[in-house]
Amino acid sequence: MCGIIGYTGKNRACEILIDGLRRLEYRGYDSAGVSILDGGEISTVKTKGRIDALAEKLKDAQHMGTTGIGHTRWATHGAPNDTNAHPHMSKDGRFAIVHNGIIENYELLREKLTKRGFEFQSETDSEVVVNLLDYYYNGDFKEAVMKVITRLEGSFALGIVCADYPGKLFAVKSMSPLIIGVGVGENYFASDVTAFIGHTKNIIHLDDGQFAEITPNEINVYDPLGRRVEPKYSKVTWDAEAAEKGGYDHFMLKEIMEQPRALEATINPRVKNGKVSPEGLDGLCLEKFRRIVITACGSAYHAGVVGKYVIEELCRIPTETALASEFRYSDPIVDKDTLVIAISQSGETADTLAAMREAKKRGAPVLAIVNVVGSSVATLADYVLYTWAGPEIAVATTKGYTTQVAMLSVFAVWAASRLGTITPEREAELTHALCELPERVQRAIDLSSNISRIAHANYKHSSLFFIGRNIDYACCLEASLKLKEISYIHSEAYAAGELKHGTIALISPEQLVIAIACYEGLREKTMSNIQQVKARGANVLGVAREGDRTIVAEADDVIFVPNTEPLFMAIPEIIPMQLFAYYVAKENGCDIDKPKNLAKSVTVE
Ligand code: G6P
Repeated sequence: MCGIIGYTGKNRACEILIDGLRRLEYRGYDSAGVSILDGGEISTVKTKGRIDALAEKLKDAQHMGTTGIGHTRWATHGAPNDTNAHPHMSKDGRFAIVHNGIIENYELLREKLTKRGFEFQSETDSEVVVNLLDYYYNGDFKEAVMKVITRLEGSFALGIVCADYPGKLFAVKSMSPLIIGVGVGENYFASDVTAFIGHTKNIIHLDDGQFAEITPNEINVYDPLGRRVEPKYSKVTWDAEAAEKGGYDHFMLKEIMEQPRALEATINPRVKNGKVSPEGLDGLCLEKFRRIVITACGSAYHAGVVGKYVIEELCRIPTETALASEFRYSDPIVDKDTLVIAISQSGETADTLAAMREAKKRGAPVLAIVNVVGSSVATLADYVLYTWAGPEIAVATTKGYTTQVAMLSVFAVWAASRLGTITPEREAELTHALCELPERVQRAIDLSSNISRIAHANYKHSSLFFIGRNIDYACCLEASLKLKEISYIHSEAYAAGELKHGTIALISPEQLVIAIACYEGLREKTMSNIQQVKARGANVLGVAREGDRTIVAEADDVIFVPNTEPLFMAIPEIIPMQLFAYYVAKENGCDIDKPKNLAKSVTVE
């Protein structure tokens, strides 16, 4: 999704903006541009395609300005081309803006402005912002910004420069991500701290509706009515290296390998004196909840599917999962007696945020499981559990997902203990198993040395099936999404017992079926389903617990996963599936970290 950056200070803005935009590449984009303010003039350079193309265009120009804004655009309104790329400039060249989000009333605004003689160059919704600035400007930059933002509906993070105000930036946040970076004699704003983490770790969070006036030595934060408010300062705890590849070919592989450490960061602080005790849940009265609804998108939703099995088994509270994009429009039956759990790595997914607002409107308390500290999901929730997985750059999530499953498992053990639905002995057993998960995942990585060979043998398939039962089925959903996302190979995840009710018609000789048979309680049942597809000629790749020799006789090839508590099996068993997707994508020459058409953080509907 679009990325924005702004810089004002003493150094050349051009390089800083390009570097920041490269760090935002992971969000997904199809064009990029910068505007540099220099000597009372704004010069804008933008292009369709990659940041390298933009850097090439900028190469020969002498942009000495020390203030500027930049943008990576993920097309929503209008094709990805040079004209629709941001920044957009006012006709007289006085203003340039970058925008992330969607201006929902842009057609109306465009019509009004056109009647007043304004011309539009692009097909974007964003261009209304710059023309509105031009329309309202009477020499006072701040006043014009305020007037414009009160006219806008929708979601927007804006970065604005004005040729009459050297060294000054305005940054506006309304339901789209935007963070301010506080330096010494220089300041930044960006969609994500990764864009400026190499320069400063000190940040200011803006609430929705707030905007900031930024110069090299001063940052003023205002509420929507233009009144000064106290800035919310905080410090990022990770460094630039954490957001770089560290010797791996791809961020995705680095992040897969980081999972033992990420899981430690999620689990360890929540276990004190042998008992699970997550922070921040004081006041959450579990006894009153008759239902739990877990809502999220993509992989976070799949983490929720695992969570449903774990919570129901341990807490005996009926738990449903709802895709956030469906939940928000489903007239959902939730009230104060329903706990809604929203899960999001980025904390900025528009559908998840909308589902949370819907739940809150109906009186349901919302617990968020989220990675990005201070994100919109975290701010909106009544209770927050951070996964603390560190920055995740690859579009396809790996450590984001496993830490979400771990956090849900921590929550389930804590809740079951509070509700008395497990014995103290079982609680101790589960807590021990949670603490062992980082090591189990390291073992899963170590056992995966055969995955690149298996991927090489299978990368040409145009379609395949994943089958499994219970938690293994939840894992199949995520394994299938991973493969689709980065290798563009069609696959379907099926509950193994459901296959025979129709889809088995698609099983033909040589069809690859990946059968996950790790969940102890239903292993035999899945083995029968393996036999059913084998009988129809399928080529079966089995995924089984270490030591399970019987599967070797049934499957054509086997991947072993270390044993752990059955309820937590989803975590180690996804590791080889992540690696399978990775190596298949690599064999197919795909752009693994930035798959086509996808965005890391989907901040529009
Ligand atoms: C996008 C990404 C998915 C991700 C989903 C939810 O669609 O491409 O990989 O799972 O958003 O993201 P979140 O940040 O809310 O976990």
